[in-house]
Amino acid sequence: MSETDATDSRTLRNALGCFGTGVTVVTTLDKDGGPVGLTANSFTSVSLDPELLLVCLSRQSNSLRHFTASNHFAVNVLHIGQKKTAQLFATPGAPRFQDTPWEAWHAGVPILSDSLANFECAKYAEYDGGDHVILVGRVLRVRHDHDYDPLLYYRGAYRELHFD
Ligand SMILES: Cc1cc2nc3c(=O)[nH]c(=O)nc-3n(C[C@H](O)[C@H](O)[C@H](O)COP(=O)(O)O)c2cc1C
Repeated sequence: MSETDATDSRTLRNALGCFGTGVTVVTTLDKDGGPVGLTANSFTSVSLDPELLLVCLSRQSNSLRHFTASNHFAVNVLHIGQKKTAQLFATPGAPRFQDTPWEAWHAGVPILSDSLANFECAKYAEYDGGDHVILVGRVLRVRHDHDYDPLLYYRGAYRELHFD
């Protein structure tokens, strides 16, 4: 048990890490049409009408400027077999798209093939989120595959579902 003021960042991070999440790769295109993406677990569904979702991108992320410059992005929800993809897209300087199959739908942003779910979005709003930027997208097109289990993230480690 640990209880402190919220300015103790270690305890705050540990407490936030108690909230289990899925894992996504958020993607867009740079100004030359090249694919850009990073691993993110800050994904949240926001609204059904209109169809909105959000993701929070760190102001330290090298990819951020491409997301703020682009009108579209995609959220790719990873399945249990995509742990290496999650690690790759969280590694600075790695050639993230070299061996990662992707396709383009209407907006052209990278849709990672063989994912648990894909959401192609038009940028709807961008908000200040302190040391992050909150990116809200309006979902244009969606795909999902119920045959897979999700890749999960909890208390700083990748996890998988357990059923009794
Ligand atoms: C499980 C996991 C979740 C992450 N979630 C986020 C997130 O929500 N937002 C974010 O900006 N970075 C997140 N990161 C960190 C980025 O993936 C990492 O810093 C990446 O190298 C950023 O790439 P870039 O600097 O090329 O944009 C996460 C990393 C991991 C491993």
